[in-house]
Amino acid sequence: MRPAALAILCLLLTGAGSARWFHASPPGLAAPAIPSDNPLTAAKVELGRRLFYDADLSIDGTLSCASCHNQKHAFADSIATRPGATGEPGRRNAPGLANVAWFGRLTFADPALAALEAQVAVPVFGTHPVELGMAGQEAEIRARLGRDPCYRTMFRKAFPRDRGRIDFGNVARAIASFQRTLVSFDSPYDRQRLPPAAAEGERLFKRDCAACHAGPLFTDMAYHRLEPLDPGAADKGLAEATGQDGDAGMFRTPSLRNVMLTGPWWHDGSAKSAQDAVRRHGIDHPPEDAARLMAFLASLSDLEFTRDPALSLPGEACGKPL
Ligand code: HEC
Ligand code: HEC
Repeated sequence: MRPAALAILCLLLTGAGSARWFHASPPGLAAPAIPSDNPLTAAKVELGRRLFYDADLSIDGTLSCASCHNQKHAFADSIATRPGATGEPGRRNAPGLANVAWFGRLTFADPALAALEAQVAVPVFGTHPVELGMAGQEAEIRARLGRDPCYRTMFRKAFPRDRGRIDFGNVARAIASFQRTLVSFDSPYDRQRLPPAAAEGERLFKRDCAACHAGPLFTDMAYHRLEPLDPGAADKGLAEATGQDGDAGMFRTPSLRNVMLTGPWWHDGSAKSAQDAVRRHGIDHPPEDAARLMAFLASLSDLEFTRDPALSLPGEACGKPL
């Protein structure tokens, strides 16, 4: 086949391949951008899923990505700020990972972090705070994974052009690929089955919330300061990344998909109820309207997503139980 024809065929194949994961997205939402050097394949997703649940990515073998991003909680954490593998306290609350394939800006306050591939390094190697605690341990990661014949097979299938090279770059590509399949658009809201109170709540939501919690992802991907600036706060929010004092106390609007399942809420997990989180915006609602808003937020829960076996801890790898 001529190179041009081959390129078109590859494009068609990768396009069609991705469609399988994104077919359920709402009309009007374009398929997410996939980096050209990391096309989505079933082999990479399978490898990434196993790595996401593997505590061998932490220094003492106690934590995996899934420890803080739990499927039951729509891949968020049920505790406010979980300490990392060395016991160092966490600083922020782990957000849910629904639909991160579409997110152009990752985490609460770092505009430079735009690609899922790059974000994987933060929990693995990060020191502020320490999460998985593997700073300086790239060789150890290669050694641990390389010892397992099944991982060697999985890397070969996922990265045939690299002849299955096991290194952090490919670990990150695989985990990013798995995370792109965390697609959640199957809530009562998506099925347009809103109970009357939720339908009332939707009207209020459009009026008071949708400017920031915008569109089908329920976020504008922008940074806002919702509370009066506390100069003593240890977490400076956006200012930590930009160095601009004016950005202190600003955080990225979180998606509200599955929000009833992702508590505790707020960037530091300090809101103990969703109602408390809404109150902290400083928008006053009479109690009956607050209840309607809660009914609407509850309609954003996609329970299938929280129990989809394709996204859960794999039971086996290479045909053998794990
Ligand atoms: C000790 C808990 C912990 C572990 C382990 C952990 N995370 Fe996180 N994760 C967090 C916290 C906290 C944040 C929010 C950080 C911030 O905003 O600064 C986060 C944010 C993220 C985000 C950004 C989501 C968004 O809405 O922008 C992604 C993606 C992510 N983590 C993936 C991973 C992956 C992949 C792993 C494993 C390699 C992992 N996490 C391991 C706690 C954890
Ligand atoms: C000006 C933009 C803006 C508006 C308007 C807004 N929000 Fe938010 N919302 C945010 C930001 C930013 C955060 C993150 C705050 C933090 O963690 O510090 C947030 C957080 C939340 C949370 C907590 C989510 C979590 O996972 O921790 C909920 C719930 C929420 N908003 C609901 C609402 C509702 C309901 C309305 C309308 C009554 C609303 N918001 C209006 C920007 C906005």
